[in-house]
Order: sequence, then C-alpha cells, then structure tokens
Amino acid sequence: MGIHFPSWRIILSVLLVLLFVRSSSSRMISDSQLKDSAGDDSQLLIKNGLVDHQMHHMDPSVHVFFTLDDLKAGKKIPIYFPNKDPSDSPHLLSREETNSIPFSLSQLPYLLELFSLSKDSPQAKAMEYTLRQCDVEPTEEETKICATSLESMLDFVRATFGLDTQFKVLTTNYLTYPVTQLQNYTVLEDPKEILAEKIVGCHVMPYPYVVYYCHKAEGGDRLFEMLLGGEDGERVQAPGICHTDTSQWDRDHVSFRLLKMEPGTSPVCHFFPANNILWVPLSA
Ligand SMILES: *[C@@H]1O[C@H](CO)[C@@H](O)[C@H](O)[C@H]1NC(C)=O
Repeated sequence: MGIHFPSWRIILSVLLVLLFVRSSSSRMISDSQLKDSAGDDSQLLIKNGLVDHQMHHMDPSVHVFFTLDDLKAGKKIPIYFPNKDPSDSPHLLSREETNSIPFSLSQLPYLLELFSLSKDSPQAKAMEYTLRQCDVEPTEEETKICATSLESMLDFVRATFGLDTQFKVLTTNYLTYPVTQLQNYTVLEDPKEILAEKIVGCHVMPYPYVVYYCHKAEGGDRLFEMLLGGEDGERVQAPGICHTDTSQWDRDHVSFRLLKMEPGTSPVCHFFPANNILWVPLSA
C-alpha cells in the first residue's frame, strides 16, 4: 500500500516548486509593476496582503484538504481555488509539435537555450525538477506517464482502462467567475460518490509548455463530486478524492498540519486545481 507515496510526494513537491518559482518572481516585482494590475498570481497575493503569509508561514494555496466528516451538505471548508480564468489556460501541444522538442534531462542545456532561460533561474530549476520526475522509471507495471500531448495522455488512459472502455473527464469547474481565492466554502449538496474501479489523475507540472504528470489512483481511494458555494455567491463544482491509507505518508505532510491529524489515523481528502484532469470509466 506504500504505492500512494511516490505520487503524493510528487504532487506535494510540485506545490513547493510552484511556490518557489512564484515567490522568486514576486520578489522581482517593482512598485510600478504593482500599481498596474495585470492578472498575475503573485501580484494578487501582494495586493491581498497574503505575501507575508505565503513567505513566512504557508502558501495559501495549500488549503485544498478536508476530511470524510466534511462530506455533508452544510459543512464549511476553507479552500483555495486559484482565480485564473480557466479558458486562459495554455492548451496541450499536439504530438506532432512536441515530437520536434526533446523531453529529457540529458537535453536540459539545449532546452534552456531553446526557451531562452538562464541556467540559474527558478524556471530552469523547475524544468530540471520536472524532467527529473519524468525520467524516473516506473516501478512495476506502467502506472504513470508524463504526457506532453493530448494523444499521449489518451494513450495512457486507454491503456489503463482497456481499449473498449469509454471514459469521462472530471475537472474543477467555476460555475461563476471570478472566485475569491481563499475562503470558507459551504458544501451545498450531499456529495455524490463516484464508484470507479480505476481513476487516472493528471496534474500540471512546471514547464514552459503544458506537461501533465498522469498516474493511476490506488485501490481504496474514494472519489466524490461536490457542489460548493462561496460567501459571495460563487459556485464551484469540484471532484474531491479521499486517500484511505495515509500510514506511509511523511508525518510533516502539510495536510496533517492543516487537518490536525497524524499519518494513518483517518482518510485525507483534497480538491484539485482547475487545470487538473481526472479520468474515470463511463460505467462509474
Ligand atoms: C473560516 O471560518 C472559520 C470559522 O468561522 C474562521 O476562523 C476562518 O478564519 C475562516 N477562514 C477564511 C479563509 O475565511
């Protein structure tokens, strides 16, 4: 059951790398840039007075965790949903396009030149991190992939579910826009459990173009569809996943601190950023 751990470690590390990239860039923001409000995350954070919080305590974006007790209409959960217009998100390149760009740690010097990044920049570190994660050989069967195109993501999903299985996609949907990034959301309806035998989760990695880290969820993970209401009338439809066995997780894992729990005591659930994709068989 320790197989939860590698994918978890990666998701958590991605959070940390994104924080690293973002806090480095916010340090470089000048006062004049602050005054004109481009939609950049780090500027929003500064304006909301959250930077101190982010730098010295915890990034507000770690507020994605909840417990099984919260899966009831009327419960309130503090959640951070990034206030980015999802339709502005970069899209996946096609396989033809990515075939002409190497994707390997050994090619990093060439890639840094291609994307005009200096070797010591936070972006270069993030690229190196992603390539390192993606170079790792899968342990037993193929349970994860770094997809640089929609085609390779679909190939992985088909290989996981079987060629004859139809499937659907679940993502976090902002039914209203914009949303307040961190606030208490109310669970508006009793969450619906999706009884999927297999689940594939795909998370965006820090990289100059869209790269998804996709992995198969474990037996024992439970998936729910939730409808959430913000304090200003925002509505968010969001899948939430609950990991039943956390006994192998690091006891310093941020979720334990937020939920005031210990590893292995009770399930840890979390939401997903809007650009993440969950795949489940249609029969579910
Ligand atoms: C959520 O509600 C709790 C309890 O009322 C409060 O202490 C907390 O500050 C609120 N969090 C946010 C982000 O508004």
